[in-house]
Amino acid sequence: MAETPKSLKEGGTIEPVREILWGSAAGVRKYETADELPEDMRKLVVKLMVVQADTEFASIQQHRPWLDRAPTLEDRWIESRIVADEARHGLQACRILRDFGEEGQRYIDELLAKREGEHKLDAFNMKFDRWSDVGAFTCLVDRVGVYQLRSFQECSYGPLARAMPLMLSEEQLHLNFGASVLRRMVTDGAKYYGSLAEAQEAVRKWYPRSLDMFGHSNSETSRRAIEYGLKRWTNEEARARYIEEVRKLLTPYGIELPPPEFDRHVL
Ligand SMILES: [Fe+2]
Ligand SMILES: [Fe+2]
Repeated sequence: MAETPKSLKEGGTIEPVREILWGSAAGVRKYETADELPEDMRKLVVKLMVVQADTEFASIQQHRPWLDRAPTLEDRWIESRIVADEARHGLQACRILRDFGEEGQRYIDELLAKREGEHKLDAFNMKFDRWSDVGAFTCLVDRVGVYQLRSFQECSYGPLARAMPLMLSEEQLHLNFGASVLRRMVTDGAKYYGSLAEAQEAVRKWYPRSLDMFGHSNSETSRRAIEYGLKRWTNEEARARYIEEVRKLLTPYGIELPPPEFDRHVL
């Protein structure tokens, strides 16, 4: 059996979670129940939670085949933790949806019926064919998820804001694990079922889908979400920060990022 990988902490560069007030949210009142929300904001919270829960449940389907195929014992244990974490995140998003009565329950029923290939975002309809896909997905796609969660962290809807600290600390493990998988492929490829070339190929596969996840530039939904204090940055601002963060993380491994416009579906 291969030796235990070095600390997974090495791979993460995202800033630590901290309490700050941002954007218009600093001046926006906190709503505590679904009934209090203005109609437009209520629709937006439901829409955001449906997408959030959909990504959580989809990633369980993507990780599932690797529970007993990951190369080391520790990798298998972390895979099983990730699956448990994503199930909990899906449950948490659905609990928020439940507060929206019959409408919320209808969405939950639909979410539970979705199978592979039926999800809203492209990144969650692609299979993990190789171990490098697991590494690139957790390093790149989960990292976009963290940007979204950090936006919700101080959002004006109390039940959503309070769900964030635990979810964020769990996601941090996923990101660091992804970076560790890619780093081990580059530095110790044969032992960890991969190589620099394979890691590079996986990054080219998942990076464009990650950039798409931030949504359209000049999106009206994104502008409204900032106004209501539900989001922190515009799609374009968040995408630019992300590109810089990933570049700093992967360049030292010898992995190059394709240009931001490469293979994009959402611009
Ligand atoms: Fe998650
Ligand atoms: Fe995750």
